[in-house]
Amino acid sequence: MLFQKKNEQKRYSLPDNVLLKAEDLRVNIKIDGAVLNAVRGIDLELKSCETLGLVGESGCGKSVTSKEVIGINPSNCSSTGSILFKRKDGTVLNLLELERDGAEYRAIRGNEIAMIFQEPMTAFSPLYTIGNQMSEIILIHHPEATKKDAKEKIIEMMKLVGIANPEIRFDQYPHEFSGGMLQRALIAMMLSNEPDLLIADEPTTALDVTIQAQILDLMKRLQSELGMSILFITHDLGIVASMCQRVAVMYLGEIVEFGSVRQIFHNPKHPYTGNLLRSLPRIDSDREEKLYAIKGVVPVPVDLPEACGFHERCEQCMEGICDKRFPPVIEVEPGHFVRCALYGKSEG
Ligand SMILES: Nc1ncnc2c1ncn2[C@@H]1O[C@H](COP(=O)(O)OP(=O)(O)OP(=O)(O)O)[C@@H](O)[C@H]1O
Ligand code: SF4
Ligand SMILES: [Mg+2]
Repeated sequence: MLFQKKNEQKRYSLPDNVLLKAEDLRVNIKIDGAVLNAVRGIDLELKSCETLGLVGESGCGKSVTSKEVIGINPSNCSSTGSILFKRKDGTVLNLLELERDGAEYRAIRGNEIAMIFQEPMTAFSPLYTIGNQMSEIILIHHPEATKKDAKEKIIEMMKLVGIANPEIRFDQYPHEFSGGMLQRALIAMMLSNEPDLLIADEPTTALDVTIQAQILDLMKRLQSELGMSILFITHDLGIVASMCQRVAVMYLGEIVEFGSVRQIFHNPKHPYTGNLLRSLPRIDSDREEKLYAIKGVVPVPVDLPEACGFHERCEQCMEGICDKRFPPVIEVEPGHFVRCALYGKSEG
């Protein structure tokens, strides 16, 4: 057949152990007549039941990437490339082909793919009880469920995330919850439909360290109990080391290094990754020793030259090479990829 029928979706496939695969994903944002290239051609793969860390400095495109997966970037954003996702029934969709407000995306969002944000307060309305709002997500995705069924499930989920007296908490309002408790409630709500993919965007940044540790432990436990994959977004490499199996290091809208936690922490190849690791505080370092700070700031991604995005800040920049062309992606060891002209020969 020469022409594909209207509304007929292309058939995609993914290997058995892969849940999500983004290829050459680009997201542009129109602002004040300029176009900001927030995500510049990233490839990302998330296996079933794995936790993948997405790290990088503020403004490098982590949230825009994750919002594109769940289809909630604002209307001034446009995207190209593909994001393949395997649904519960085994069918594989390109999420970029779905209508943002269409029935199919709504059936996936909050059900098969859930997201936890940095600030739990923004996820709940102050006007309704926690129980009411938590029940809503079950009732939307399971029309056959009664309010009583939803309440039972929510109370079970509250217990699972360690909220004491869930029957009483169910009828309370968000302002009656502490920050840590609210984040637990958000996790419980997001996991109540047992999603296959949880996107956690800086889920513990707003919490104090003790609560942070509890929430991270909770997420690990729930992941093994529910068997889901997690895309864990953070700028904290310490959290990555304790939570993730593989890591993607993002800089200026690109993945500059990708590999297992071991590869990235013990054998970092990209100068940016090396710098990020050097800026981590060490328990055995001299107290007088100053922490390493990467010089400069992430540039605004508008009208970027054909060059390595990191070249203005890189101590190993090779003049005439790094500032003149895009470095290729090289597999430096099995499963360990780096985009840097120090490795392999530059393209074109
Ligand atoms: N709605 C928007 N309108 C205009 N620019 C935006 C919008 N959202 C993001 N940006 C810009 O896109 C780029 C990537 O932003 P993004 O929020 O993805 O960064 P991030 O890596 O999540 O940073 P952080 O660690 O601070 O959360 C930045 O330059 C940011 O200013
Ligand atoms: S390509 Fe050049 S400038 Fe970019 S990170 Fe590698 S060495 Fe540094
Ligand atoms: Mg962000």
